[in-house]
Amino acid sequence: MKKSLLLFASLLLATAVWGFEIKSPSENIVVNFTLDGKGTPTYSVSYKGKAVIEPSSMGFKFADGKDYSNWFTIVKVDTTSFNESWKPVWGEVSTIVDNHNELTALLRHVPTNTFMTIRFRVFDDCAAFRYEFDRDSNHAYIKVANEVSQFNLTGDHKTFWIPGNPDSNEYRYLTTPLSGIDASKADGNAIGTHMIVANNCIQSPVMMKSSDGLYINIFEAALSDYPAMMLTIDKNEFCFTSLLAGSAVKGVTAFLQTPCKTPWRTIIVSDKAEDILASKSILNLNEPCKIENTDFIKPFKMVGVWWEMHVPRRSTWNYADEWNLKLEGTDWNALKPNGRHGANTENVKKYIDFAADNGIDAVLVEGWNVGWEDWAGNWKEEVFDFVTPYPDFNVKEITSYAASKGVKMIMHHETSSSVTNYERRIDSAIEFMKKWGYTGVKTGYVGWIIPRGETHDGQWMVQHYDRVIKKMADAGIMIDEHEAVRPTGQCRTYPNLLACESARGNEFNAWSDGNLPEHETILPFTRLMGGPMDYTPGIFKIKMSEYYKDGNNCQVHTTLAKQLALYVTMFSPVQMAADIPENYLKHMDAFQFIKDVAVDWDDTKVLEAEPGDYITIARKAKGSDKWFIGAITDENRRTTEIKLDFLDKGRKYIATIYADGKDADWESNPVSYSITTKKVTSKSVLKLTLANGGGCAISIFPIK
Ligand code: NOJ
Ligand code: CA
Repeated sequence: MKKSLLLFASLLLATAVWGFEIKSPSENIVVNFTLDGKGTPTYSVSYKGKAVIEPSSMGFKFADGKDYSNWFTIVKVDTTSFNESWKPVWGEVSTIVDNHNELTALLRHVPTNTFMTIRFRVFDDCAAFRYEFDRDSNHAYIKVANEVSQFNLTGDHKTFWIPGNPDSNEYRYLTTPLSGIDASKADGNAIGTHMIVANNCIQSPVMMKSSDGLYINIFEAALSDYPAMMLTIDKNEFCFTSLLAGSAVKGVTAFLQTPCKTPWRTIIVSDKAEDILASKSILNLNEPCKIENTDFIKPFKMVGVWWEMHVPRRSTWNYADEWNLKLEGTDWNALKPNGRHGANTENVKKYIDFAADNGIDAVLVEGWNVGWEDWAGNWKEEVFDFVTPYPDFNVKEITSYAASKGVKMIMHHETSSSVTNYERRIDSAIEFMKKWGYTGVKTGYVGWIIPRGETHDGQWMVQHYDRVIKKMADAGIMIDEHEAVRPTGQCRTYPNLLACESARGNEFNAWSDGNLPEHETILPFTRLMGGPMDYTPGIFKIKMSEYYKDGNNCQVHTTLAKQLALYVTMFSPVQMAADIPENYLKHMDAFQFIKDVAVDWDDTKVLEAEPGDYITIARKAKGSDKWFIGAITDENRRTTEIKLDFLDKGRKYIATIYADGKDADWESNPVSYSITTKKVTSKSVLKLTLANGGGCAISIFPIK
């Protein structure tokens, strides 16, 4: 009796009183928050008066079997405003403005007497919310079965998506209406950890365009100690619901202890596609930098003993062609070398020479450490020890040679997803890096995770990536993660996390059916929303058939000029000149752009963009008056006119234009390019022609 009265009271309160509106500073975005008739927390979002998110429910299913998405009452509501700017350690711009209005609603779940806060932040380009649980002795521990945040869209939007898979993001994008989402259509052929959660489930971030011209991106920010969010679509209602990556324990996705908070759920929206790329809201939703002394964090370019392992049969990570070897008990010196081991001292020195000759800061070496004879596919625990070099990799000689040439060495820690093994050995691995002066590490998580049953995107692994980032920060080491969970802006808090892969990189072009020419026009609207990508651009030998005449028809799905443009359109503070030096030596005129281009920026102008079609971006190098422009297109040829009105008025510049040749075409003639120079000012307009699958890269230097 008492209970139902209480419910009745909450129902009355919910319908009768509660309803709040919170606007962004310019009032472009308006969020409404209410409790509906059942006491369900409900929000909606509009942009310039147009509905973006129709009333959508919020809440949880906990593993206790109870539903925490209704029968709430409101205890207290507060609002605040915030307007400050901050300076990132590195980034696309030197100053970031964080201007938002905030509403917090403390709610009480009547049946269980659980308290939950929903916090909204509304920026001019983004509405965001998160759930928070205060320290509560009655509910100190929470086992989350699933979060049920809904995103109820207004129509059958054009959608750029990849399938929901908590173990990989390395898919080609599919473009369909929301009603056409079908994860079983995604091609998982070349992906070792391919699995489909459900046919209606996709990965976040998802990018959409409505028929009335709104660009909408749904994602998350500040993912920490919680699983990553996938989205399931109800195709009749055009409504997404969050689906958290699972754990090894059936029925539980997150194990929480109060006080705790979830990541932010973000809805970035604009009527201009360019604004989506320029948004800094995901960074703003992350906490300020927690590294006290950031002097060791220096954006850089690298070459690597790397692409030669990816292109057909060129060289190998493994030293011997013997399989099923155990880490312990194998006498590595006694093995017969296969003669194609890439990470040998002589070869590494060639890369160091090339880097030194061309002003490239660093060299990455993969396959330097024992264990590659039996590293993938067997889900075994003891794979690498991260400290024992192969007999032909003389670490002492290599590091002193690199130091003598002023080149930094970048470590490689492929874990093969035996994460328990990596955690046991990481301290000695870090000691090794410090002893030999390594300044950065590329980590990798190929294969199914150990502890078995955990996934790349689950809570346990999210904690693991955070532990590694913090350990590396303490050791003064920068990090570039491959196959990790997609980033959600935490490079603001830990800027030693320079980049992640966490999507389908250029490497797929070396050994699979590759990335479609539109791929790089979608990535910035999806994967890169949460942080830089180590895409590894700069491949000059486009056709893999040129390595061996064995019918291999893999190829990079761009022109050479587009490979150059990617250094600008695909932001990252670590950029690889990914091809083999011998391929660069044949095109040193084009390589000049890679030498010149910056990796850290004072300013960025997204000049034009349309997801799936084209992107043109201009950036001003950090601490310099040099500008760089990258323009890329999908499979369609494109002409465009670029106004240089962002240049200093009254100043003269020289522009060097690396364009597609007149007869260039990504498929039939990808290496055709032309390089021209031109005097320009802020009044100049450049007319660019991009080939099918092509691009254009431009450097603009002031004339002294
Ligand atoms: C996959 C990574 O993406 C790639 O860059 C690396 O070379 C291989 N794993 C081996 O670790
Ligand atoms: Ca990869």
